[in-house]
Amino acid sequence: MAISYLSTSGIRNLFSESNQDNDDNGDKNSELNWFPAVEINVTEEQIARDYDHEDENEFMINKICGMNIKLFRLENIVLKLKDNEHENIIKAESQHSDLLPAVYEGEYILSQEIPLRNLKVLDLGCGAGILGIIALLRGSVVHFQDYNQEVIEMFTIPNVLLNSIDRKLIKKKAEFYAGDWTEFTQLSANKYPNEDEKYDIIFTCETIYNTDNQKKLYQVFKERLKHNGVGYVAGKTYYFGVGGGMRQFESLIKDDKTFNVENVWTSDQGL
Ligand SMILES: C[S@@+](CC[C@H](N)C(=O)[O-])C[C@H]1O[C@@H](n2cnc3c(N)ncnc32)[C@H](O)[C@@H]1O
Repeated sequence: MAISYLSTSGIRNLFSESNQDNDDNGDKNSELNWFPAVEINVTEEQIARDYDHEDENEFMINKICGMNIKLFRLENIVLKLKDNEHENIIKAESQHSDLLPAVYEGEYILSQEIPLRNLKVLDLGCGAGILGIIALLRGSVVHFQDYNQEVIEMFTIPNVLLNSIDRKLIKKKAEFYAGDWTEFTQLSANKYPNEDEKYDIIFTCETIYNTDNQKKLYQVFKERLKHNGVGYVAGKTYYFGVGGGMRQFESLIKDDKTFNVENVWTSDQGL
């Protein structure tokens, strides 16, 4: 098994974020009530929705190495929601809006022509789901995982359907999971206990920023990646305010002596 990583030297200041509760941060990690892991089903209504004729202002098109990936604008989705009913997605939007969703990482995957045909891929901490969508369009079966159920239901699934060539196949080609990484590892192991049912590739992008959560993130790789599988971790070299970053996550992996680790891409561009 191997872990490859991609890092940018951009510094993300986490002081500006709410870092006291749920998925994001805090030294009160062990005292928090983490959301349980659940599988989210794509509804018939979602499959039937006429995504091809959506108002073009509702989504943006990211051209990544010649592949057009359409993503709904999360800020538009949030604008339509009532605060009291959807506080998790509203919070997720406010925390992630400074990030360009995984575009560099998508470029890396496509430019390196990482084989993705007929593989089983996990987009871990997927948010918009861009890496998983690329894998899906390249012929993999993809599982999408995000902490927030609302993000999966209102953002990730619509994005996947917006880009799917044959929406009727979605239930065969994609699965969606919400909740904390520790429980996700367990749920996944219960549902797919055999070695050949584990993931060939796990992609994760911008998920190592919370040092308190890195061990459980790492545990997903350790328990759910095939013996000959590869994990790709993308993140910043250093996250100001939390004392962590790619080097420190790399040390965590090396200390455990399970994976070979290699730096495959570095950029000195900022955010
Ligand atoms: C900054 S977002 C990155 C989203 C996407 N990968 C991207 O690059 O645009 C971090 C993601 O990690 C997920 N996450 C953070 N802590 C988590 C936890 N403890 N369990 C499960 N998912 C978590 C969040 O839900 C979020 O989607």
